[in-house]
Amino acid sequence: MSLGESERIIPKHIGIIMDGNGRWAKLRGLPRSAGHRAGAVTFKEITRYANKIGVKCLTVYAFSSENWRRPEKEVKYIMSLFKSYLKDAVNYADENIKTRFIGDRSVLDKDLQDLMEYNENLSKDATGMVLNIAINYGGRQEILRAAERVLEKGLSLTEENLTANMDTENFSEVDLIIRPSGEERISNFLLWQSAYAELVFSDILWPDFKPEDLDAAIDEFSRRNRRFGGV
Ligand code: FPP
Repeated sequence: MSLGESERIIPKHIGIIMDGNGRWAKLRGLPRSAGHRAGAVTFKEITRYANKIGVKCLTVYAFSSENWRRPEKEVKYIMSLFKSYLKDAVNYADENIKTRFIGDRSVLDKDLQDLMEYNENLSKDATGMVLNIAINYGGRQEILRAAERVLEKGLSLTEENLTANMDTENFSEVDLIIRPSGEERISNFLLWQSAYAELVFSDILWPDFKPEDLDAAIDEFSRRNRRFGGV
C-alpha cells in the first residue's frame, strides 16, 4: 500500500546501487551493453524524478573500484556511456541539478576526466539536488582518501575530521540505500556514510526500475522507525 503525501518522509540523501543491467539484457537475449544502455536511460529518469520530489542528494553507484575486473570490452562500453551522458548533460542545465563525482578519477581517461570537471563547473551554482556519480569508487578507498586528507592538513584522525573529508562533502550521512536486482549486499558502497542508513532491496532489475519503485522504497523508509541506537 502506498502512503499518502502527508505520511511520506522524503529522505535527504538516497544512495542507489544500479544493479541488474547484465541480467536484464540476458533475459532478452541481448548483449550486456544493451543492459547498460537501458540502465543509463533509467538513471536519467530516476535522477530527474528524485530532484522533482525534493530529494536533496542522490548518490548513484555507476562503476566500482572492483568493476575493472570485467571484460575490457564491457568496461570500454560503460566508459563510453559515461562520456556520451556527460556530453549530453550540458543540455540539462535547466534542471538545476548540481553534478559531482566521487571516487578516484585519476586513473580515468583524460577526456572523461575533462568532461567530469566541465560538468561539475557548469552545474556548480545549481541550487537543486546534488547528484553524486560514483565512478571508480570504493567505500574503503574513500575512507583511506579521507584519512590522507586529514593527515595532510595536519589534523588529528577524529570521526568529525574524517566525516568532513569524505568525497560526499556536506552529505556525509546517507538515509536510504536502495539496491534492486535481488542482491542484498552493500558491495563497498558509502560504507562510512551508511552507518545508520535504512536498506531497501528489491527484485526489480535496474533498467526496469521506475519512479513508482522509488516511491515504494521511500514509503518503506517512511514506515521504519528510525532510532539511531536510542529507544
Ligand atoms: C551493474 O549491473 C551496473 C554497472 C556496473 C554499470 C552501471 C552503469 C549504468 C547504469 C549506466 C550508465 C550510468 C551513467 C551515470 C550514465 P551489472 O552489469 O552488474 O548487472 P548484472 O549483475 O545483472 O550482471
